[in-house]
Amino acid sequence: MIIQPRTRGFICITTHPEGTAKNVHNQIEYVKSKNITTEGPKKVLVIGASTGFGLSSRITAAFGYNAATIGVFFEKPAAPNKPGTAGWYNTAAFEKEALEAGLYAKSINGDAFSDEVKKQTIELIKKDLGQVDLVVYSLASPRRTHPKTGVAHSSVLKPIGEPFTNKTVDFHTANVTDITINPIESQEEIDNTVAVMGGEDWKFWIEDLKEAGVLAEGVKTVAYSYIGPELTHKIYKDGTIGMAKKDLENTVPTINNILSDLNGVSYVSVNKALVTQSSSAIPVVPLYVSLLYKVMKEKGIHEGTIEQMERLFAERLYTNDGIVPLDQEGRIRVDDLEMRDDVQKEVDDLWKIVTSENINEISDIKGYRDEFFQLFGFNYDDINYEADTNELVEVPSIK
Ligand code: NAI
Repeated sequence: MIIQPRTRGFICITTHPEGTAKNVHNQIEYVKSKNITTEGPKKVLVIGASTGFGLSSRITAAFGYNAATIGVFFEKPAAPNKPGTAGWYNTAAFEKEALEAGLYAKSINGDAFSDEVKKQTIELIKKDLGQVDLVVYSLASPRRTHPKTGVAHSSVLKPIGEPFTNKTVDFHTANVTDITINPIESQEEIDNTVAVMGGEDWKFWIEDLKEAGVLAEGVKTVAYSYIGPELTHKIYKDGTIGMAKKDLENTVPTINNILSDLNGVSYVSVNKALVTQSSSAIPVVPLYVSLLYKVMKEKGIHEGTIEQMERLFAERLYTNDGIVPLDQEGRIRVDDLEMRDDVQKEVDDLWKIVTSENINEISDIKGYRDEFFQLFGFNYDDINYEADTNELVEVPSIK
């Protein structure tokens, strides 16, 4: 079928299999070009492995360290005349390249919050790998059905206390407007967001994996967080999502306890703000990211998910001396370049003056839009989007 981009609201509802394969291929080539020589993970489970940071973690483990990978995600397979989701095609492309390179790669498509998918994953590890030595937890979801209570929790992106007014952009039209987001009306909204994006499910995974005996001696596990600058604090760090991230961080000692007799250890890594399907849904953030991209590209320090994850593995989790550098709160930081004083000062100055009239000159809104569409396989110069393409691409390990 001929597949062209179609958007609804901020999301893109079509996906191009050749373009997404190109995105995956480019990431693989980047990691290979780094010629990593240090010891790293060998058998890796990535939960949330099909897009964004999770996909880049999986690619780094496989093509940076020759690791066997199992990926868990929730994606829609392709059907006749209905393209699959980006994460489906990404995984198809990843597995194909992994198999060609002689690397083990299998995937499980289902609800990672459920007991059933945890069980399925454990069985697969037992059957094929025995144990895993790294568990990456990279889920981003708007809802979670709790496996013990059956309650369906929905997360919200809201400030706490006062209404929050700031600039935002519709990145499709480059229209800059003020947006006011009303605060939560009840504690329940915080609790629900924490239930979805906090640390409980990460803990459930580690408990189940440990109990099943599928975690190796010295296992590491890492989950991802974000802090960001003052101008997004009310909607992010100090808002409902920030409370969930706090809960995630607070889960680290609990997980360390669970892993102590295996000499295992857990980390939260604070990553950089990037264009992913999840971050484009947060008000204010796309405008901040457009300005951030402009400043970081000009300084030659721009990074995407793959550059971030390669640095996380090679310069934080698996260093030569085995020491994992942490901040005062015990977190890994790969948002260090984003948070540099000179970067933040310049973004702040631009933030004050940005309008619909000057956004194309003073921000990288074009880069944002390009990257957004590339997440869905569009905007690649060497792909003919007028041509027929086979939408029925399969993930080799999922029959
Ligand atoms: P993403 O939307 O690109 O990826 C989310 C992944 O979770 C996908 O693989 C998806 O299939 C999977 N998933 C969602 N619900 C699922 C379910 N019920 N069962 C199984 N799999 C499910 O998200 P992104 O942006 O890569 O986020 C990953 C983590 O990184 C999140 O914790 C996020 O808060 C964090 N982060 C994101 C930043 C950003 O700017 N995008 C910055 C710093 C941290």
